[in-house]
Amino acid sequence: MPKRDIVIWPSKVLETPTRPVTEFGPQLEELIVDMHAAMKEADGIGIAANQVGVSLRLALVGRQDGTWFEIVNPQVLERSGKVELREGCLSVPDQFEQTPRFAKVKVRYQDRAGAWQELEAEGRLAHVLQHEIEHLDGTVFVTHLSPLKRGLFRERMKKYKSVK
Ligand code: CO
Repeated sequence: MPKRDIVIWPSKVLETPTRPVTEFGPQLEELIVDMHAAMKEADGIGIAANQVGVSLRLALVGRQDGTWFEIVNPQVLERSGKVELREGCLSVPDQFEQTPRFAKVKVRYQDRAGAWQELEAEGRLAHVLQHEIEHLDGTVFVTHLSPLKRGLFRERMKKYKSVK
């Protein structure tokens, strides 16, 4: 069993912008290991630290081939093209909806050692990057949906939490 449970929306920690990571070392490494375990258990392709209740600007991003990497203190430098993609979230289990995103993004982030990296991405990778960085800004994908749909998801999550 993973050491950390995934926080289910709605929850304050998911709706609060996370704090920048300033310490790179064993504690950060340990958090990454724990987040990976939680992501794997839930069969996810990305996870943000606030989804395990830790308000830090850190997320894991899964690639198409099943490998993954961490993004620390990420920023989106460029965005272009518009797409709508079917999206879901580990914090809103089993709910999926078409969500507007950019087709391509260029991001800057630090790795676990603190080194800055730059990455241009499109397709699924661009999608996951936008979803996870948005988590770190305190925004869950349901924000993009209609109030009606969001209300429906809210009701379903209430039931989900009550049977858990
Ligand atoms: Co999510």
